[in-house]
Amino acid sequence: MSNIPLRKGGPNARIAVIPGDGIGKEVTPVAVNVIKAATARRHHHIDFVEFDWGADKFLREKITLPEGAVEMLRDEFDAVLFGALGDPRVPSNQHAADILLGLRFKLDLYVNARPTELFHERFTPLKDRIPNDIRLMVLRENTEGIYVGAGGFFKKGTADEIATQEDINSRKGVERILRFAFNYARGQGLSNGASLDPIAPAGSPSPAGFPSALAQPHHTTTHKPLRLCMSDKSNAMTFAGDLWQRTFKSVRAEYPDVDSRHLFIDTLAMEVVRDPRQFDVIVTNNLFGDIISDLTSQLAGGLGLAPSGNIHPGQTSLFEPVHGSAPNIAGKGIANPFGSVLASGMMLDFLGWHDEAELLKQSVKSALHADVTTPDLHGSKQTLEVSDYLVNYVSKHS
Ligand code: NAD
Ligand code: IPM
Ligand code: MN
Repeated sequence: MSNIPLRKGGPNARIAVIPGDGIGKEVTPVAVNVIKAATARRHHHIDFVEFDWGADKFLREKITLPEGAVEMLRDEFDAVLFGALGDPRVPSNQHAADILLGLRFKLDLYVNARPTELFHERFTPLKDRIPNDIRLMVLRENTEGIYVGAGGFFKKGTADEIATQEDINSRKGVERILRFAFNYARGQGLSNGASLDPIAPAGSPSPAGFPSALAQPHHTTTHKPLRLCMSDKSNAMTFAGDLWQRTFKSVRAEYPDVDSRHLFIDTLAMEVVRDPRQFDVIVTNNLFGDIISDLTSQLAGGLGLAPSGNIHPGQTSLFEPVHGSAPNIAGKGIANPFGSVLASGMMLDFLGWHDEAELLKQSVKSALHADVTTPDLHGSKQTLEVSDYLVNYVSKHS
């Protein structure tokens, strides 16, 4: 088996599979089976290589992210399909920080793309909202901010103790996520011009325009750019906020065709609930993006349905459901696999396999309409029953 990834001329796409902990181990195999079914009859070949990184390995061997792992993923794989990390036996969450945040930082996956799309009105807690009302993309900065782990303790364990946690924002980091968001608003998709296809010239536009697994504009037919909202807390976090504001001002000047505005994050949280129709693309920092994307996911049915892509255009990128390891339901066989399957759709889109990506999304939509759903969506099915439905659907339609 060749270890050369597709994008470097290898014969097959190479996907690293990291199921992780808890329900990550239950939903990820479903996604892999659905991908296999979708690609079986087409001329796309995928090598899946599974890695057992997670709490069990950490507790057993004290290893979180093995040495050389980052270089291996970067050089030998096209993408990573990730489940979830988090285990009550590791209260420090050390392994999740090392593995998940480690991969986001070390693979420099500066975009965390979290689309929300309402597939059926019965899944929204909002009154009188129809599917077209809720279709948006949160683009979360993914390599900086409060997540970098800068800070420390002083006089820890004493009555005078102090803890600091620093919010790191670089001009380069802010500028590249804003620029990505404006390009996305213009319809360049998640690859933003960088192709994984070795034949396509670098910088050629994404053939899909708006990848199918992702937020579509309310006005696709007119080809108008999506509306963009940058959100920060520059009225209170004045240093970082000032940098975001100045960078936003200079970048938006280059995109006069994109309807862009700013909202403070507290106002955004309120507005997105009051009237989600206002939003197509939201771009914000790491922490605010984490929080607002859980909120937006719930507008369309919750974490069980929410996918994400941790992306660096043109490089090995990582796709995962937004949800965590859900220890409260792990092992019960009732985890909702849709988030992982939709994340796999994003991954296939990223690889340039748009028909297969669309098929995955259609399989989820079909299951939702047929009420083949797990208890979090008020259904009565087990994970494996949903899996059977999806695999059948995809096999029949590929
Ligand atoms: P969680 O997403 O694991 O669960 C939140 C709630 O949503 C729970 O009630 C859970 O049962 C439900 N839920 C989530 N996904 C579901 C699914 N697919 N099907 C059905 N129900 C689902 O968040 P949490 O409880 O705050 O965190 C649990 C652990 O996961 C923690 O250790 C946390 O740090 C970790 N976590 C990891 C990731 C990740 O790996 N990307 C993301 C979030 C949380
Ligand atoms: C997510 C998770 C992670 C984050 C945790 C597990 C560190 O909540 O992927 O949204 O905060 O980014
Ligand atoms: Mn989160």
